[in-house]
Order: sequence, then C-alpha cells, then structure tokens
Amino acid sequence: LPDGLALTPPMGFNNWNTTGCEVDEKLIRDTADIFVSRGLKAAGYEYVNVDDCWAEPQRDAEGRLQAHKTRFPGGIKALADYVHSKGLKFGIYTSAGTVTCAKTMPGGLDHEEVDARTFADWGVDYLKYDNCNNQGRPALERYTKMRDALKKTGRPIVFSICEWGENKPWEWGAGVGHLWRTTGDIKDNWARMLQLMKQNAPLDAYAGPGRWNDPDMLEVGNGGMTTAEYRTHFALWSMMAAPLLIGADLRKVSAEHFDILRNEEIIAIDQDRKGVQAKVLSNADGKWVFAKPLANGDVAVALFNENSANATISADAREVGLPPAAGYTARDLWARRDLQTAGRISAVVGPHETALYRVKAGGDWFRHEPLVSGGLELSR
Ligand code: GLA
Repeated sequence: LPDGLALTPPMGFNNWNTTGCEVDEKLIRDTADIFVSRGLKAAGYEYVNVDDCWAEPQRDAEGRLQAHKTRFPGGIKALADYVHSKGLKFGIYTSAGTVTCAKTMPGGLDHEEVDARTFADWGVDYLKYDNCNNQGRPALERYTKMRDALKKTGRPIVFSICEWGENKPWEWGAGVGHLWRTTGDIKDNWARMLQLMKQNAPLDAYAGPGRWNDPDMLEVGNGGMTTAEYRTHFALWSMMAAPLLIGADLRKVSAEHFDILRNEEIIAIDQDRKGVQAKVLSNADGKWVFAKPLANGDVAVALFNENSANATISADAREVGLPPAAGYTARDLWARRDLQTAGRISAVVGPHETALYRVKAGGDWFRHEPLVSGGLELSR
C-alpha cells in the first residue's frame, strides 16, 4: 500500500513456527525483553506478533473478540502496552473467514469493522490476515474490506495478506496490503525452505517499498537445519527483501543461530531503502547467482550452492550491474572482511552454503593481492 508504511520489509517476531497454537503472553513479553537486551531491537527488529489461537472461541456480548483467558490472562491491550513500553510494536492475527486456520477462534469475515476497531483500540500495529474458511468468497473483496476497515480506524497498521493460492496476491496485493504470502507454510527443513525460495524468487518484479513478497517466516534457530542451511535461509530471505520475522523461541536459540539473526550487515541488505528484490542471474546445476542493487550504488551478490558437494560459483562485476572500474571491493558479509578483485567474484562454496558479498566499484584493491578468507576465494 502506498501509505508510507513498511517502506522496508517488516522485521520482528511471530510465534507460530515455534509454538503453533501453544502461545502465551509470557513468550511475547520475554521476546520483547530479549529484543531489547540482546541487541535485536538495535539491529532493526520491531514487531512482536501473536499468531493464531489468541482468542476465546466466542465473541463478547458486543460482538468483539476476547483474549483467550488462560493464554492471555492480562488481555491483549495490556500486552500491547508492554511491548510498546519497550519501544517496539505489536502485531496480531486473524483470518478472512468464519474461523481462523486452526479453527480455535472466530475469523474477521463480515466482522471487519468491529475487529479493526478492536485492534486499533488495543494498540495493534500489524495485522496478519489469513485466508482459511473463506466460504468461497472472492479474495480481493474480503481483503479490501479489511483494508478499508483498518484505514477507517485512523491507526497506522501494517496489513499482511496471508494468501498465496490461485488468487495470485502478488498481482493485486500492492493496492490492498503491505505484503502478501507467495507460498504455503514453511517448515523447519532444508527441502521445504528451498522449495519456497524457488517459488518466491521469480516474483521479484512485484516487490518494492510498501509492497513485499512474503515467502513466510524464518525458521532460523528452531533446530531442523544445519548452521550452513540457516545461513542460506537468512541470506536468501535478505536478498529477496523478504520480511524478517523470527520464528524461534529466543529463550532457547543457540549463540551460533542467534548471531545469524543479528548479522547487521546482512540485515542492511534486506532493509536497503531502494527496496529491490534480488534477481536470479543464473542457477545452472544448482549454482545460484543472485544480485540485488542497493541505494548507494553497491550491489549485493549471493553465490548459493544448492548441491551437497563443494562448488565454485562465479559472477562478473559488470554482469551483476556494477559500473566499469579498474577494480572492485567485495565485502564478505559472513567473515566481515573486505576482499579485492579486478571484476571476477568467485568462491568455493560449501554444500548448502551461501557466500554473500556487498560489492562496490573502486576501493584500494590495487594495493592488495587476491585474498582468501574462510574458504571463499576471490580472484582477479
Ligand atoms: C496458516 C498460515 C500460518 C499460520 C497458521 C495459523 O497456515 O499460513 O502462517 O498463521 O495458518 O493457523
């Protein structure tokens, strides 16, 4: 939506990938605390979002949703206030249907105005609006109704369209919401993550400030993938300018996985204000080259190895969109180290790994021999 919200992809947390329905207010409060105490807020994470199953199965006498009495005994308003007190934003979930996807609570269909008003009264800043139990009614109509109801409240609320089916939300989502799902649900395994990446990557033309493709939330830290695979997941989501919604219980995430989520130089690729989703330049034999132009003229280049043996993957500075120059500086965003090259960007990439560079024309490349770092070699 061209209303000034979500000018960069939303960043934050959503509980679904780690808890499913078993969410409670303590997890949400603890997550907000950890955002502040462990540097995630400083790194840009902002929205702390509750997914399905937060409400009682019945509306109250005035037709309003009511917080689940045992999972959210303090109520949603108090929880949103707490999140706000940390300088963060609060998000919630429902479905454009009669009930939500988990069928544990009422959906927003034909209750758009009362639900939008309730959310605004509680201080909600982000709404994920799902597509389950929609009675076969047209998606565009259902989502437009909620868009208008949210607008009428006068509160700025990021609107996440959780719909990915034959309705192709990328074709109409930019006028209705700030992001739309492009895939079914992610799972905490390599094959599924890869499948979603492949569905989302070709849709780059639809993305831009205020209108993002959403290949679903992050699994980094949940334990079902290797560290290399989580790095690839995070690197490629950032290259695709995807929302970065942490889907792990941060109280339990290992230091190694936590560091992936907090890598500020990679976050800067996702959050670059030019708002361009990376293009796939090549992917022959599972050797992928992605390029993402950045606001300051640099280009982010990802060399992703889909295979289970080492692979040498190469790109050329001109081919990724950089201007002609006598030399280039490529910053390795994992090793946090500058490398120099006359133009060839080439690395030996481990199985399921992604080498990630921020490349600029010029620099002091001529004073150095080619550098080797962490098994990633750049040659001239
Ligand atoms: C759908 C969505 C998920 C999650 C669940 C909740 O499957 O795609 O992200 O919100 O519903 O039931």
